[in-house]
Amino acid sequence: MFDSLDRLPPDPILGSMAAYRADADPAKVDLGVGVYRDERGETPILAAVKRAEASVLAHQTTKSYVSSIGNAQFNRALEELTLGVEHPALAGGQVRTIQAPGGCGALRLGAELIKAADARSVVHVSTPTWANHTALIGGSGLKLANYVYYDAARGGLNFEGMMAALGKLPSGSVVLLQACCHNPTGVDLTDAQWRALLPIFKRGALLPFIDMAYQGLGRGIAEDTFGIRLFAAELPEVLVAVSCSKNFGLYRERTGALHVIAASAGAADKALSQLARIARTIYSMPPDHGAAIVQEIMGNDALRTEWLGEVGVMRARMTGLRNEFVQQLSASCPQRDFACITRQFGMFSLLGINTAQVHAMRVAHHVYMTDDSRINIAGLRAGNLAYVARAVAQVLRERAQ
Ligand code: LMR
Repeated sequence: MFDSLDRLPPDPILGSMAAYRADADPAKVDLGVGVYRDERGETPILAAVKRAEASVLAHQTTKSYVSSIGNAQFNRALEELTLGVEHPALAGGQVRTIQAPGGCGALRLGAELIKAADARSVVHVSTPTWANHTALIGGSGLKLANYVYYDAARGGLNFEGMMAALGKLPSGSVVLLQACCHNPTGVDLTDAQWRALLPIFKRGALLPFIDMAYQGLGRGIAEDTFGIRLFAAELPEVLVAVSCSKNFGLYRERTGALHVIAASAGAADKALSQLARIARTIYSMPPDHGAAIVQEIMGNDALRTEWLGEVGVMRARMTGLRNEFVQQLSASCPQRDFACITRQFGMFSLLGINTAQVHAMRVAHHVYMTDDSRINIAGLRAGNLAYVARAVAQVLRERAQ
């Protein structure tokens, strides 16, 4: 049976991670997969997570099943982190949450829920979007389409184009948005732009499906949720997929959740019952450990304060790196303006070099990024910034577009 299968190429992001690991060159730099790194190039376990984990292990009395919906206290804590404790949708009993195996699991659950409600739904994603969005959502069987988003010439948002594209969508279309730290561009909507989009969603009865994988790493914990909180207050239905991979550093623990904001408590209950069935038919129940750690942090003032401080350190480091990298790039390749990188948020930016140049970065300089020239800003550090900038300059010189 298996001999008849085609051998598939590696995943575009995870493949770059594997290629980096296999490279023996001491100068190698990994700007590929989106994991945070500190000044030593390491992805440490957050101190608040270490402490919470010790407490979880000390107090845990059973490994018996939880449920398909997951840890109720974790779900509630994430609702409050996403929406703020006083959000009208929470007060109105319209929010339901299912714990998910990471943000990826949440995205797939959301897609399966949409399919259960209306299998003809089309999910519109930004151009470009995170490579795995297409696979995760398309894997449910739903159709995907694209809307205008990134303006490559300015390294910014083509907001007029986006408004025009969304304004033309058929009523009831699903629009996948990213709350903050847009993957792969780093180009986010401003608060004013979120406000301007709202009437388009209202007029077109569009369903926002918002992916928030980097809360706290853009402008701040609450600031990064501006669009979600606005849409959840003003629109009857919103889906939000959240991830604890980056802001809690829980990557391999697969910790995330899907929030459903429905028009009524009754509709929200129906959606949750469907989600429980969907989870049961795919993986039955989510892994517990990461959610237990997040619950512990969110329920303990000292741990929560410590965690918020650690998120602030990660955010500030990435902002600083953006500025330093652009300074190094301006020194190494003055003919090209990279200043847009300082106006972008979170882990990612597109360098704007072509695939042959990306490959030359890898082969000649051992600098790894995805083929679309997405770089993980957190992979830079004082010890490699100038090296990477010089490599970019050399590749641009030798392989002019
Ligand atoms: C990324 O985009 O690099 C991260 O979200 C990790 C992943 O799963 O792709």
